[in-house]
Amino acid sequence: MAFTSYYLILIYSLLSISSCIGQTSFQPKGLILSVTKDSSTLQYITQIGQRTPLVPIKLTIHLGGQTLWVDCEDGYVSSTYRPARCGSTQCTVSKVNTCGNCTTTPKIGCNDNACNNTPENPFIKTLYDGGEINEDVLSIQSTDGSNPGEFVKIPSFIFTCTPTFLTEGLASGVKGTVGLGRNRIALPSQLAEILSFPRKFAVCLSSSTQSPGVIFFGDGPYMMLPNIDVSKNLVFTPLITNPFGTGAVRFLNESSSEYFIGVKSIRVNGKPVTINKKLLAIDKRGNGGTKISTGSPYSILESSIYDVVTKAFIDELSNATRVAAVSPFETCFSSKSVGSTRVGPAVPAIDLVLQTTRVYWRIFGANSMVKVGQDVICLAFVNGGLNPTTSIVIGGYQLEDNLLQFDLVRSTLGFSSSLLSSQTTCANFNFTSKA
Ligand SMILES: *[C@@H]1O[C@H](CO)[C@@H](O)[C@H](O)[C@H]1NC(C)=O
Ligand SMILES: *[C@@H]1O[C@H](CO)[C@@H](O)[C@H](O)[C@H]1NC(C)=O
Ligand SMILES: *[C@@H]1O[C@H](CO)[C@@H](O)[C@H](O)[C@H]1NC(C)=O
Ligand SMILES: *[C@@H]1O[C@H](CO)[C@@H](O)[C@H](O)[C@H]1NC(C)=O
Repeated sequence: MAFTSYYLILIYSLLSISSCIGQTSFQPKGLILSVTKDSSTLQYITQIGQRTPLVPIKLTIHLGGQTLWVDCEDGYVSSTYRPARCGSTQCTVSKVNTCGNCTTTPKIGCNDNACNNTPENPFIKTLYDGGEINEDVLSIQSTDGSNPGEFVKIPSFIFTCTPTFLTEGLASGVKGTVGLGRNRIALPSQLAEILSFPRKFAVCLSSSTQSPGVIFFGDGPYMMLPNIDVSKNLVFTPLITNPFGTGAVRFLNESSSEYFIGVKSIRVNGKPVTINKKLLAIDKRGNGGTKISTGSPYSILESSIYDVVTKAFIDELSNATRVAAVSPFETCFSSKSVGSTRVGPAVPAIDLVLQTTRVYWRIFGANSMVKVGQDVICLAFVNGGLNPTTSIVIGGYQLEDNLLQFDLVRSTLGFSSSLLSSQTTCANFNFTSKA
């Protein structure tokens, strides 16, 4: 892999964001990551260059994650690695919980006079409170919106070091996760701040394990073959701030870095289902509401919501042949009894209705039905039981081949619904560089 780069000579200072930008030798319009779906864990994996000399590091995408964290215990070698010192700006912006000396022999990831935050692994529901804040070189590819461009090298990217144990449950060869959350040190905000482009990013996950999807940092156009600017297809809804941390363990007294939206009701085949509205709101302890997460492969619905949606779906699809359940799904059909359309199996659409009845995220068959075996398709939603922290978690499968643009300044989500209806997919970014 070629990591030829323009070197950005700039001092990362949060106090003089714009004044330091004048020192960049090359200012990209935006950046991209190529994202591949792992067939065994169903995680969405990317690769980012880090360290000196640069090495490609595999990381799982964690949409609501606070930080880029990586295993520093196993084979971290770099001449440009620097721990953040207690009281420094790097520690302050990282919302650290502890600061002090290493309790064992100091080494990479455990230094004296260093600060720690709380990296999360959502796949094993673990939050680790001793993640040391560090800086190192990061290398990421630029884009003009249509093709990849030069690699951009960021000299001082803030990330978190963890012990090896936090990588449990990640796909094979993956060394950590890359957080795309709402907070300051998550990848979208750091990149926008350092490179002075809009604090926006867009996620387009591929449904194929063979052809990668793409994440764009910065504004559109976001071009997909055959020459379709998918940034033009968006409908907008406010992003909602959950004032409480909603990670696997909630002891942090700070607002969640995750992305919540205001689902007001759900329709199946255009007909509203009856839901306890309390579950759709975020209560004063941060429970309830709807978040978008790549920490779960399928959407998870609180059990009373799951029951009414499933029942309505079965009623509306009464002439299809039900077959035995295939765990973790409960509602399965013979695919031979269901027609097909450009947007997947011909099943009732599920609408997540947002700020008004006219603004809704429509989930078509391609995102609501999953093939689990020869001639068997299942409703791709999982029962979240009673009293889950968050009532609706929109998981990875429901995001595939949809463009989601997160605008962190205006606090809005732009969503496209299925790109299949626009005759393209998230695997259609042209990853061939221009000559
Ligand atoms: C850390 O160690 C240094 C010397 O090694 C010492 O001066 C300092 O007080 C220690 N800090 C804490 C918080 O223990
Ligand atoms: C938590 O945050 C609230 C609101 O900002 C504040 O009043 C309270 O003192 C904080 N508690 C702790 C333990 O920091
Ligand atoms: C199921 O019923 C609907 C109308 O109720 C009809 O349009 C559709 O063709 C039927 N599908 C099958 C497979 O019979
Ligand atoms: C992808 O981009 C390359 C470089 O611009 C171009 O040569 C190629 O024709 C493009 N591929 C398609 C399918 O348009």
